Amino acid sequence: MQDTILRGEVLHFLHDPGPDDDAAAWQHWPDGYVAMRHGHIAGCGDWAALSAHRLAAANVHDHRGRLILPGLIDCHLHYAQVGIIGAFGHQLLDWLQDYTFPAEAAFADAELARRTADFVLDRLLAHGTTTAAVFATVHPVSVDALMAAALARNMRLIGGKVLMDRHAPAALCDGAERGAAESAALIARWHGKGRLAYAVTPRFAPTSTPRQLQLAGELYAGTPGLYVQSHLAENHSECQWVAQLFPGHGDYLDVYRHYGLLGPRCIYGHGIHLHDAQRQLLAESGTAIAFCPSSNLFLGSGFFDYRAARQAGVAVGLASDIGAGTSLSLIRTLADGYKVSQCLQQPLPPLRGWYLATLAGAQALRLEHCLGNFAVGKEADCVVLDMAATPELAFRLQGEHTLAQRLFALATLGDERCVAATYVAGRRWQAPAG
Ligand code: GUN
Ligand code: ZN
Repeated sequence: MQDTILRGEVLHFLHDPGPDDDAAAWQHWPDGYVAMRHGHIAGCGDWAALSAHRLAAANVHDHRGRLILPGLIDCHLHYAQVGIIGAFGHQLLDWLQDYTFPAEAAFADAELARRTADFVLDRLLAHGTTTAAVFATVHPVSVDALMAAALARNMRLIGGKVLMDRHAPAALCDGAERGAAESAALIARWHGKGRLAYAVTPRFAPTSTPRQLQLAGELYAGTPGLYVQSHLAENHSECQWVAQLFPGHGDYLDVYRHYGLLGPRCIYGHGIHLHDAQRQLLAESGTAIAFCPSSNLFLGSGFFDYRAARQAGVAVGLASDIGAGTSLSLIRTLADGYKVSQCLQQPLPPLRGWYLATLAGAQALRLEHCLGNFAVGKEADCVVLDMAATPELAFRLQGEHTLAQRLFALATLGDERCVAATYVAGRRWQAPAG
């Protein structure tokens, strides 16, 4: 099989550039290449260093004038909420009751689940997102639809059935034992198939009984490589409710700790209202946070302290949190992340922002061995961005600019219109016709 070689401006990260954008953290070639073989990275570097011999045997995709990055990684979204993006007026708990639960109830219908999963995954790819951690709904058919859609596109995707056995409409409550049995069946069907992994998915502490959380912890402990995804400390009323529901616990995070739901491959959305000892526990246990700035602004939840989390050693990835977030674009989400960081008077540096959207996601999802940058042997997921895709960007970037200035303008003004191509496991993804 011929190598596929992408030519263009290439950027990837080796580690976190930190609060001062340490230049040792990335590699950048203004005229570079990324070589792909059998779905994996075969090399990257300066175009001029490629031998004529190697080029003669390759299929070259010419993206000169465009920026080639590792595929963007969305660490937290709800595919069944795509139809309620932009629901007016509520903060979290009322938003769940009035908009989210009714929308999710419809996913008992396998056909709706299939259509929606196909739509969302194609839209993710169109937005340059090649990997995601995705909540389905309480219905097993909603997971089947999601996993089948990811398998068909050969995407590396983490997904799971929502567990809820209280404080939700009866039609959305599974019961502790049934929820665990359905999860076990889905794990057997999907975990480790193709590029898929399963996440035990208790919605959040208030909608699970202690028994359900206990069974979730047992599932996580019982299967190698399994994930846990849930929500943590997003909203003040939610935090107060958890304190009432679980009076024996020191704080919200302690509930998850108690039930064995912290550790590697555990990812919690939000984590806004935390104190230092909780950040310490997240870091020590290897638990990750999905930073969802668009969602946090839309629901008025608060400002996630990215810098404090990183200083404490917490792995943090970026996430759209559709449908509380308002865009599938991680470029737009990054712009929101910057605005949140400004509200905390800690501006997120430009290079660190793009690290957050790529390698940091792989690290938060414990996929850095196979994703996140162009190291040889990793899976060849990448996105090609056109920095002149909109008139405003082209206007803004006239003349000479540093890499940091260009990347910051791209994050601020860019969106899915900048996505010129998306590659999944070495193959260029084609949008479905129509
Ligand atoms: N907390 C519990 N469920 C949800 C949800 O669906 N979205 C968000 N943003 N927060 C939640
Ligand atoms: Zn969420």
